[in-house]
Amino acid sequence: MYQLIIISLLLVNSDGFQVRGPSGPLDVPLGGSVVLPCYVDKPLTMEGLEVDWRRSDTETLVHLYQDGESRPEVQQQDYHDRAHFFTDQIQHGNFSLLLINVTAEDEGKYRCKVFSGQDSGETVVEIKHVERLIVSGSDHSISAYAGEDVTLNCSVDSHITPEEIEELSWKKTDKDGDILVLLYQNNEPLPESSHEQYRDRVEFFTDEISKGNFSLRLKSVRTEDKGVYMCQVFAGGVSADTTVELEQLGESQINKKNT
Ligand SMILES: *[C@@H]1O[C@H](CO)[C@@H](O)[C@H](O)[C@H]1NC(C)=O
Ligand SMILES: *[C@@H]1O[C@H](CO)[C@@H](O)[C@H](O)[C@H]1NC(C)=O
Repeated sequence: MYQLIIISLLLVNSDGFQVRGPSGPLDVPLGGSVVLPCYVDKPLTMEGLEVDWRRSDTETLVHLYQDGESRPEVQQQDYHDRAHFFTDQIQHGNFSLLLINVTAEDEGKYRCKVFSGQDSGETVVEIKHVERLIVSGSDHSISAYAGEDVTLNCSVDSHITPEEIEELSWKKTDKDGDILVLLYQNNEPLPESSHEQYRDRVEFFTDEISKGNFSLRLKSVRTEDKGVYMCQVFAGGVSADTTVELEQLGESQINKKNT
């Protein structure tokens, strides 16, 4: 009897499958889209296959695959037209869900449960933050010689239009207080508000602003420009920023020859 139980356990294990999800929680921009990963480690027979995606907090049905097709008619209304299987991927054991037009209410945990034959397995995917504003820059510092022009990167997520930006400022952060490098307010750059150290040496790339690209052109770099620059954005009552470090490498070759 004891042996029989062990054997049947082994059989279940060798027949069973593992459902896998993402390696960690997901962050999504507001209004953006996200793939909620859910897949199995080996092919399953399509016959009797069922995939059930639910909010694990409310048991709300997000999407269902059953009898060889996705079943939008049983989806909770909120997810209608917003949650989609990759139908051509299902036969490969990929039951990931595409969620579009993400809203703040989409934050939470989702359970992907897969039924095949006598077996089932599940994984939980978490949308941890739906971010209203995402500002990104470059992840490495910038080096330059004195006299060169440099570009400091700052991009606002495209789900925010430039019109929604209340204020965007480039500042040099300094222990004695910040220095205003360049300001954008009410849909226009205000170069006259720049600190005199930067006046007439800084500009946005005008054609790029409509794409949310607020990278800064700093012309004719000086030794005292060295430091950390912050691009800070205010929109819809929240703010976000990115920083980039300008490392001064020294006098240019030309200057050295002249001195
Ligand atoms: C599942 O399919 C989606 C859409 O093609 C893809 O982005 C994702 O990488 C796939 N996942 C796996 C595990 O193959
Ligand atoms: C923003 O525009 C600048 C100047 O054209 C360019 O170098 C940079 O790659 C752009 N950034 C993005 C994210 O497109």
